[in-house]
Amino acid sequence: MISYQSAKEEIKQAADIVSVVGQFVQLKKAGKNFVGLCPFHGEKAPSFTVSQDKQMFHCFGCKKGGDVFAFWMAYHSLTFPEALKDLADRYNVRLPEKHFSAEEKKKADYRENLYRTNELAAVYFQRELAHPVRGKAGRDYLEKRFLPQDMIEAFRLGYAPKGWDGLKQFLLKNKISLETAFSAGVLKRSDKGRYYDLFRERVMFPIMDLTPKKRVIGFGGRVLDDALPKYVNTPETPLFHKGSCLYGFAASRKAIRETGRAVVVEGYMDCLALRKHGLEEVVATLGTALSETPVRKLKGIGKEAIVVFDADDAGKKAALRTLPIFLNERLPAKAVVLPKGHDPDSFVNSRGLDAFSKLLDAAPSLFDFYIDQKLGSRTGDIDHKVSVLEEIFPILTKVRNETQRALYIKRLSEKTEIAEPVLFSALKGLNQFSAKERPENDIRGQFASLNGDRSIGELQLLNLLLHYPETVAQLRGRHCRELISDPTVRRIVDIIYDGYGHSETLTFEVIQERLDLDEDRIWFREFGFRPAFCSDREVKQAVREFIEKAQKKKIADSFKKAMGDPQAINEILKRKVQAGGPVGN
Ligand code: CTP
Ligand code: MN
Repeated sequence: MISYQSAKEEIKQAADIVSVVGQFVQLKKAGKNFVGLCPFHGEKAPSFTVSQDKQMFHCFGCKKGGDVFAFWMAYHSLTFPEALKDLADRYNVRLPEKHFSAEEKKKADYRENLYRTNELAAVYFQRELAHPVRGKAGRDYLEKRFLPQDMIEAFRLGYAPKGWDGLKQFLLKNKISLETAFSAGVLKRSDKGRYYDLFRERVMFPIMDLTPKKRVIGFGGRVLDDALPKYVNTPETPLFHKGSCLYGFAASRKAIRETGRAVVVEGYMDCLALRKHGLEEVVATLGTALSETPVRKLKGIGKEAIVVFDADDAGKKAALRTLPIFLNERLPAKAVVLPKGHDPDSFVNSRGLDAFSKLLDAAPSLFDFYIDQKLGSRTGDIDHKVSVLEEIFPILTKVRNETQRALYIKRLSEKTEIAEPVLFSALKGLNQFSAKERPENDIRGQFASLNGDRSIGELQLLNLLLHYPETVAQLRGRHCRELISDPTVRRIVDIIYDGYGHSETLTFEVIQERLDLDEDRIWFREFGFRPAFCSDREVKQAVREFIEKAQKKKIADSFKKAMGDPQAINEILKRKVQAGGPVGN
């Protein structure tokens, strides 16, 4: 019988953190580590660091970090047991039963039931669509929208039939409580407390997460006619946050990685229609404005986004609103505006993929598009130009990369026919690139801030113990601990001293886990990602120096204590002569 702990270890052995994270974040080798753009906070230059030796990640910008499970939990918004299960499945590790505390169990059960409800609902809708009688309207509709059977299956499309309680009864039969189904967002509750199906007479689009299991987390449902509302979506639930979801992402991830680009459209149908015609690198927003979270996920795997908008005013406005997000996240973006009266679905179905691809290839950058839209035809109108600049400058101040900013200014100058230097100085006036705005990726800066009140000496000591574990035996018991004044550093060194020599190896991670305080753990991770301050050849010398230093300090300390006790002073002086060197602080 394998133990839970050893299964966990086995997963860690198999699930190399660099390759797991690498599926979601583009990593580049940087010295001993790998770096990339953090998927957890907005940044333009990489401070998200992954260490293969340590099997840990740490972001110097937002301070998130931990092992492969911590990454999986944070990226997919899962609990620890869920992350464990995912990775165990993925890497073929058998997971024994673990007895969680009552509270852990309750929380796990609650979430598991929400997932189960969504999965059951998806199955129910699929079956209803296949039902010879009840599903006919849905099948006819999908046929009318040119969606073939293989797409219907691949995307698990379904049908919510007429009636108020088809799903409700199905869930009850499967032992899902009505409260759970309500929390999962698939049932509604009337004022009188009666539960009923949210989706009725609608074609159903399940929305999946990005884990290999492709868990269903929510739904969109479309009416079959012109009734309103055209779409109904799962409300916000613990599993489903509309604004941070992209429809079709799980299916398109590979293609986005391979082609380097993500085509972003507005609707379920647009996404499926493009796919049907062979464009695989496509995702859809769920009718909401694009927010940071999905953009961060996109930039983790693709190099650019091409955002496709409807020709109407609403579409153009939406295009304009997304610019700051792309600039902020520094994902290069282009804009395609479709001919009047078209959306991607109608366009590709009537004109084919080649015509659509031409639009993609000719797409201007979102920035150019933005300026053109804003300037409109009134290019000669000075007041108008000024008002456009007033809108664009605040956005430009967010571009922290100077080269990029210069390029935008150049572009702006061409379009407005205002000389570049004039634009630059105007921007400067507005710009507060204060110290606070220092690029987050300045890792050296981050390290400097790490020191705080700690002396360089004690930091070097800890660094030595961490990078050259053989020095622990040489330094322990030699009073080196007295050289440390900072409580965090002391706590870490104590863990290292305590753990050393026991059968289990004292990895970076074990030390981290033994620290009780969150702030200690964060500090330690950050510290641990620094390289060794001395080379292999210098280790011996460093050990000698620390021992000497510790001895001197010990003597000096006892000196202070013994002031006024001539007998004691004599003793100390004798020792001092033996140790060599002056007594000092
Ligand atoms: N949407 C929504 N609720 C609505 C209308 C739209 O959530 N009442 C979302 C849906 O995700 C939809 C997207 O906004 O896919 C785009 O809406 P729209 O352009 O109106 O629909 P289409 O995608 O063109 O849908 P269809 O082609 O089926 O008419
Ligand atoms: Mn449409």
